[in-house]
Amino acid sequence: MGTYVVTGSASGMGYQAAERLRAAGHSVIGVDLHGAEVIADLSTPQGRTTAARGVVAIAEGGRLDGAVLAAGLGPLPGADRLALIYQVNFYGVVELLEAWQPALAAGKAKVVVVGSNSTTTTPMVPRRAVRSLLAGRPEKAQRAVRPFGPAASSLAYAASKIAVSRWVRRQAVSVDWAGAGIRLNVLAPGAILTPLLTEQLAAPRQAKAVQAFPVPVGGFGDAGQIADWILFMLSDAANFLCGSVVFVDGGSDAYFRADAWPKGPSTLALPRYLWRFAKFARRR
Ligand code: NAI
Repeated sequence: MGTYVVTGSASGMGYQAAERLRAAGHSVIGVDLHGAEVIADLSTPQGRTTAARGVVAIAEGGRLDGAVLAAGLGPLPGADRLALIYQVNFYGVVELLEAWQPALAAGKAKVVVVGSNSTTTTPMVPRRAVRSLLAGRPEKAQRAVRPFGPAASSLAYAASKIAVSRWVRRQAVSVDWAGAGIRLNVLAPGAILTPLLTEQLAAPRQAKAVQAFPVPVGGFGDAGQIADWILFMLSDAANFLCGSVVFVDGGSDAYFRADAWPKGPSTLALPRYLWRFAKFARRR
């Protein structure tokens, strides 16, 4: 049986994933603000250091067989919310994974980062916000969304999830991750009935936006079912899954962009591929 770390283990999808892992006989190190093995506030650099070190200290042999990064904040409005969204949803994933990389490599771990379908269904997310997060400039990312007023937190939320998904896809295929035997993937849920969504439904403006949002299969998703997907992505069935973003969202992503994906390789990837091709061709 393995050792798994789950952030956001006290509620919603993280809680359900942790429960299922425990029920399967694994040892789970939960990380959360309360009710977890490691208590840490992922919105601050000190909190992230506490979480990073605390988990490795408890993990048997300093090794992790898997990680679920589910701690996160929803897009509720509020001026101070922008910084929090960026800190928890982006740096609260990236900094922990970077710190845990040796432990994850030791366990040839599978990692599931909880993203969101807001990445592909939110219009007008400023590219500068995403770029700034990836460049380690959260203040600049805040400045990029502030002019949008009441929509700023939704844009910050989508930017945080786009940035984290992009970070995963870039790292997943690299020598340090795929090359080290780690499988890094994103699960992108749609609206799932958890305390995070309940909070949104209690705010009148947000509730209207959630209710008007097209979900072809209707209703909201179930946190337990998302946890089943997470466990599948942590299992041997996912040995060949690397850098994928798996949407489980009742069809909203397909509704908005049926023809926008799959798409050909990026202009950045093409020269790399052609160089490899030329190298192989010379060998024959
Ligand atoms: P939830 O609110 O039920 O659980 C989130 C957990 O994260 C809570 O236990 C909370 O204490 C923890 N957390 C929040 N801030 C933290 C901090 N500063 N330090 C440490 N822990 C912190 O939320 P839910 O719905 O289970 O969300 C899980 C993930 O799924 C989040 O990343 C969220 O953005 C994402 N998501 C949620 C959707 C939904 O409709 N519920 C849709 C798409 C993505």
